[in-house]
Amino acid sequence: MKETYITTNSQALTESDSPVLEIWGPTSLKGEVRISGAKNSALAIMAGTLLCSDDCRISNVPSLMDVGRMVQILAALGVKINRKQDTLEINATEIGQTQAPYDLVSQLRASFFVIGPLLARLGVARVPLPGGCAIGARPVDLHVRGLQAMGAEVTIEHGIVHAYVKGSSRRLKGASIYLDYPSVGATETIMMAATLAEGETTIGNAAQEPEVEDLANFCRSMGAKIRGAGTNTIIVSGVERLHSTDYPIIPDRIEAGTFLVAGAITHSPISLYPVIPEHLSPVIAKLKEVGCNVILEDYKRLRLVPGELRATDIETLPYPGFPTDMQAQFMALLTKSEGNSMVTETVFENRLRHVAELQRMGADIKVKGNVAVVKGVPFLSGAPVMATDLRASAALVLAGLAARGKTVVQGLHHLDRGYENIEDKLRQLGANLQRV
Ligand code: UD1
Repeated sequence: MKETYITTNSQALTESDSPVLEIWGPTSLKGEVRISGAKNSALAIMAGTLLCSDDCRISNVPSLMDVGRMVQILAALGVKINRKQDTLEINATEIGQTQAPYDLVSQLRASFFVIGPLLARLGVARVPLPGGCAIGARPVDLHVRGLQAMGAEVTIEHGIVHAYVKGSSRRLKGASIYLDYPSVGATETIMMAATLAEGETTIGNAAQEPEVEDLANFCRSMGAKIRGAGTNTIIVSGVERLHSTDYPIIPDRIEAGTFLVAGAITHSPISLYPVIPEHLSPVIAKLKEVGCNVILEDYKRLRLVPGELRATDIETLPYPGFPTDMQAQFMALLTKSEGNSMVTETVFENRLRHVAELQRMGADIKVKGNVAVVKGVPFLSGAPVMATDLRASAALVLAGLAARGKTVVQGLHHLDRGYENIEDKLRQLGANLQRV
């Protein structure tokens, strides 16, 4: 059966009509690349605008398919939303709908995050179980248990999560919640819900990802009382309402990490701007282990200094550990690093599907369970490959830059979900590639 998907302009395409990316390698890159706003911050913050019954302006929003889908979801809920360059003007004074549309939520897991703000604002929310990348089962039990602890009644019927708050005030109540796992999404759902709840909420074993902190800072810019975001304990004192804000999104650490690997795999000295270097610490540490250097050129500007690539081991972990969203790209790098590297994926249970595609390009990788052993080879060869998820698609582009000959990457809808203008950015650095 042909796969159908929605493009940014909502035009339905089928897989056989889909564009492919042709890349000629090996290539050398040179110059500076501009890093876009963080996708994962943008998606959570867009959901967070539902908390505010006034105007919100969010700037540095990347132009991505996932952002387009979130715009459609907010619009379907009755929110007024307008895009001017990289700024979204959002007004959620009137929320006409409490049910998020299935066809959109099923394509974007982050859209489930609207459940917390809807429930906090209106006392009722109905959101289909989410979809998104096929990298694992990705349940929402932690989100649901958090909302239940705050007094919500939650049932799941026919694939839709119904949540409502009993009582005349329809207000959630602060609670002490300890997460079994530091889930990014669950931390964000509970934190957003708690901003308008009655009393204090404590989230223990909270996710510490920079995007969680960015969401907290956004909520604080609207008057929310949140402490501890960015640590493993977040404390939220509920307020009655939130006010208008104008908020810029942080730079995307995963896009930045992907370009650092592009420099490393092609032995090219490239610069990146703007970045928040601390957010890249686990990635920079590993780049140093494989023989590269990363220099802070000045405030928010990093330079990758390439080196002879040697093997290292990687284990993905919640922040500040090595990010699962950089695992595929790093694996591409390790295919060309001398020696044996071990890559262990602990965050998602099905996130090694790019291995088969890298093997088509001549990579020597063996997989057992969630562990891949990568033996460096002298060179990769261009081949037709299929992107299996968002970050896997980036890994194949990186491998294509380094491989000899032509690589043809299919499944570009994955790439378009999370990388703004990646072809233009790579072309400006000197890569030889085109979408056909
Ligand atoms: C977010 C990011 C995604 C990143 C991931 C981990 C967004 C939009 N996406 O996804 O890019 O790869 O963090 O850094 O921000 N889990 C449960 N029950 C739950 C929730 C999660 O078991 O209720 C499990 C998941 O199946 C997964 C693990 O926890 O195995 C981590 O998931 P989580 O941190 O929630 O990731 P997302 O928020 O979905």
